[in-house]
Amino acid sequence: MEMKGKGFTYTKTAYNYISFYKDGKWDEGILREDDKITISSLSTALHYGQECFEGLKAYRRKDGRIQLFRVEDNAKRFQFSCERLAMPVIPVDVFIEAVKKVVLANEKFVPLYGKMDTLYIRPFMIGVGDNLGLRPAKEYIFNIMCSPVGAYFDGPAKPVDMVVSDYDRAAPNGTGHVKVGGNYAASLYPQIRARKEGFADCIFLDPRSHTKIEEVGAANFIAITKDGKYITPRSQSILDSITNRSLKWLAKHVLHIDVLEQDVYINELDHLAEAGACGTAAVVTPIGSITFGGHKHFFPAHEHIGPTIKKLYDLITGIQFGDLEDPNHWVTIL
Ligand code: PLP
Ligand code: COI
Repeated sequence: MEMKGKGFTYTKTAYNYISFYKDGKWDEGILREDDKITISSLSTALHYGQECFEGLKAYRRKDGRIQLFRVEDNAKRFQFSCERLAMPVIPVDVFIEAVKKVVLANEKFVPLYGKMDTLYIRPFMIGVGDNLGLRPAKEYIFNIMCSPVGAYFDGPAKPVDMVVSDYDRAAPNGTGHVKVGGNYAASLYPQIRARKEGFADCIFLDPRSHTKIEEVGAANFIAITKDGKYITPRSQSILDSITNRSLKWLAKHVLHIDVLEQDVYINELDHLAEAGACGTAAVVTPIGSITFGGHKHFFPAHEHIGPTIKKLYDLITGIQFGDLEDPNHWVTIL
């Protein structure tokens, strides 16, 4: 299968938010038009990977208004990532207000309702300043960029093919559970290889035993068992996906199916009826097959999205675009 994903590309918008940290404190933060930054060539972000980021979306509702999905959760996860990389945190309310400002300033770039396109929001932080030794920077930049985007994979209708990577994405007690740039740098080479071989993306196994499914390159792995349960791996080295958290809640409380967080062995896929990758960019993308050790395992739902993953997709996107009631105050209307 040819990798799609050309819908997830950068289009310059009118404004982004930037804030500088110096002498132990953050400045006020401003909206600006320039989408470039000038930093010292000795910035820790460039040499030692002192960088972390978030990803969330703004959705256009049918009534024309714009809403965010679970922005507070992104703010909290961002703090967690900053702490892990010894960077100063951004207060949750400052993060949320800055995201709102960026979206409202770029209101005309939020795609129209109806095509599933959204405004992707990318907050990130980098260590900057003149540094040489391996230690945390003294200066930081917090920047929020945004861009209208389409589908990351090919959309929900057609399940994609994935292959298991020979490489590890993260170490057992490393940074796999935090959203830091270094994890993604390490996943690029395996991802390119997977795409060259015609797969949409690769799946990483647990780094300790290489027997269990752990993570998709930029998404969590989910599946529906043949007896109708929602299953997703539990691991110390995968990202605590906000999409997955939401799907688990919807599976349990709306579809009334059991939710299992447990090991998914790569050699025991026969008990799974449907599989998928979930995340802000991936939304809920069905996986039709997984290739491992020269064998291509097809899930029963490999030609079309399976019925339960379809229901979950409809539920989550229904809430995200404001068509369905928001049962948990996940949504912030701007
Ligand atoms: N796992 C990885 C490695 C990711 O990059 C992402 C994307 O953010 C996810 C999972 C999904 O997380 P979320 O649903 O919070 O976007
Ligand atoms: C997201 O889903 O927000 C991501 O971070 C995916 C990105 C790495 C493409």
